[in-house]
Amino acid sequence: MYMKTEMIKIDQQQINIEKIRKAAKWIREKELVAFPTETVYGLGANGLDPEASAKIYAAKGRPSDNPLILHISKQEQIEPLVMEIPQAAKKAMDAFWPGPMTIILKKSEIVPMQTTGGLQTVAIRMPNHPIALALITESGCPIAAPSANTSGRPSPTRAEHVYEDMSGKIPCILDGGMVGIGIESTIIDFSNEKPMILRPGWITQDMLEEVVGMPVAIDPAVLDSRKTAGIAPKAPGMKYKHYAPKADLILVSGSEKDVIEYINQKIEERHLQGQTVGVIGTDETVSFYRGDVVMSIGKRNSDQTIAHHLYDVLRKFDHEEVNIIYSQVFESGKNGFAIMNRLTKAAGYERVEV
Ligand code: TXA
Ligand code: MG
Repeated sequence: MYMKTEMIKIDQQQINIEKIRKAAKWIREKELVAFPTETVYGLGANGLDPEASAKIYAAKGRPSDNPLILHISKQEQIEPLVMEIPQAAKKAMDAFWPGPMTIILKKSEIVPMQTTGGLQTVAIRMPNHPIALALITESGCPIAAPSANTSGRPSPTRAEHVYEDMSGKIPCILDGGMVGIGIESTIIDFSNEKPMILRPGWITQDMLEEVVGMPVAIDPAVLDSRKTAGIAPKAPGMKYKHYAPKADLILVSGSEKDVIEYINQKIEERHLQGQTVGVIGTDETVSFYRGDVVMSIGKRNSDQTIAHHLYDVLRKFDHEEVNIIYSQVFESGKNGFAIMNRLTKAAGYERVEV
């Protein structure tokens, strides 16, 4: 069914509550609303209503075994949604909420299986974004929200990205401008005795361990995605090809000089075959590449800026006529692990060491 998608611009410094109410009304009417969070844009629906959650899967083309995250606006809203809150989880919530951390706990009766993809656990997050928090509060229910992209595509970091994927499928997008962090929240599973990170993000293993006062494991399936490409990850969504631009993407690692040389040689070969080539480099390297479309992802040493631009750059290539994209790797800094987790999947694990 086609519906007109309204873009509602909101200033996050000065929230117009009438605009929020309009969006919250859609949520109460079991419709979908896209909204900004500090990580990426979410595609929201009433998380306690199976019919509303089902619409999320339809709009995204998402497999129904892939569970959704419930977003809350006050810490106490978690209580009716879970069986119990272990001490370690409470410490993490106190330290990092509102913020880019999703926790997994055993679900209570009131959380429908449609929301959790059939699992007995539920993922919950309190986002650190005034528009998201206002929308949740006005809607009066936890909001189930995956990233607001078509399943498999890069997550949206701007309202325009959401419009590209969701126009005609949802009634409304709250446009709060470009998001801050740019990659999805860290997911940490507290439903077993030993906490485990299922998806790396801005909040790192070190940060979590310091706060919860015990070791925090990392799901081996995300630890080194090249060696473990065959292992089933514990977060169902991490098993799908994901975050991918339309053109093939190949990562190239090694010393900067070797990487530039290798990519330029590949560009020459591809040109002889009549292909056009894109390159993702940094501010320091872009001028050295002879590709048809060369984009910088940010400064070499600024992992925060690289995370912020990652999906925007991948999506920009979808508007360019390139057959193939070569990218440097961006492993350094606190966000390097999370950036490479996403980029490696976007490349379908294609990586060349030179
Ligand atoms: O930053 C974020 O987390 C964004 C914003 C919108 O909040 N949301 C987001 O949602 O990234 P989504 O649906 O794109 O990713 C959620 C991930 C999926 O990989 C899913 O499989 C996993 O969380 N997940 C959800 N519930 C789970 C559960 N009970 N057990 C294991 N993994 C779960
Ligand atoms: Mg997603």
